[in-house]
Amino acid sequence: MKNKILEILEANKGEFISGEQIARSLAITRAAVWKNINELKNRGYQIQSVTNKGYKLEIFNDVLSKDGIAKNLSVNSKISEIICLDTIDSTNNYAKKNSFSHGTLIAANEQTSGRGRFGHNFESPAGTGLYMSLVLRPKIEISKFQMITIADAVAVCLAVEDLYKNSHEQLKIKWVNDVFFRGKKISGILTEAVTNFESGEIESVVTGIGVNVKTQNFNNDIAGSIFNDDEKILFSRSELCARIADYIMNFAEDLADPKLINLYRERSLLQSGSKITYMKDNTKFSAEVKNIDDLGGLVIINDSGGEEILRSGEVNTVRSDFSRA
Ligand code: BTN
Repeated sequence: MKNKILEILEANKGEFISGEQIARSLAITRAAVWKNINELKNRGYQIQSVTNKGYKLEIFNDVLSKDGIAKNLSVNSKISEIICLDTIDSTNNYAKKNSFSHGTLIAANEQTSGRGRFGHNFESPAGTGLYMSLVLRPKIEISKFQMITIADAVAVCLAVEDLYKNSHEQLKIKWVNDVFFRGKKISGILTEAVTNFESGEIESVVTGIGVNVKTQNFNNDIAGSIFNDDEKILFSRSELCARIADYIMNFAEDLADPKLINLYRERSLLQSGSKITYMKDNTKFSAEVKNIDDLGGLVIINDSGGEEILRSGEVNTVRSDFSRA
């Protein structure tokens, strides 16, 4: 039924058609029309509903689809397979449960149990965000795995910067993998290794990226979206997904290329001299940032004047130069 309603809306794209007319031509109730229209909206169709006028399908629609992603990949894309799901618990879980080849991309319109780092949830409502995972089989030592997360964060920044044409605004990265746009966290990354149960060796890496594109209500005040409620959506989630995936696959070819870490350093909210706090063995320490090393580690000067390198963990700034102080 949804598809039939969509056909009618498509035939009248950019113009209003009343709920009654749709209901009559499909021999269904107006309530059924309304229910189906809501489901189409959840998939990302831009449908305006106005009392006494009916429904209008906008010219631009943000529907996440396999075709939409495929047609926005670069000609030499290294993506080997695209799986696009309407709803799933978590694209990372899906990727980990199956044995996919290098370059498999899994994208979903909605996640019912989106996972973040440190056991947090990642809010993943239908139609308003991009939830994607990539399966990589990189030939690198474990010590360099952090560079995959670094590549993801840079990929999200570059993709949004490219698509936000006319703007020279750079996105920012909070070490290690939170991406900020206009002071709000719009993207998070969760990279997980898949180990062979028998050999104990790492078989593949699943790297998951969540981007809040136009989600509006969050249960914390750090999170935000690329587009606010009243803003015009400038690009579709399919375009964004393809661009992020292409950047990551290209970076994955040579994670040691200094260009990658330099792009990251340029966008880092933590710069030399930033005062931070971090947790180690359940104790809170303060330190000053020295720099970010070539493997993405945070080089700090601890309170005793010693140099240390943080490889993971959550770090907070003391001076409030971004949301979470
Ligand atoms: C974080 O901010 O702590 C990381 C969030 C990572 C969310 C993405 S959405 C796609 C993939 N599937 C998941 O369940 N999580 C990641």
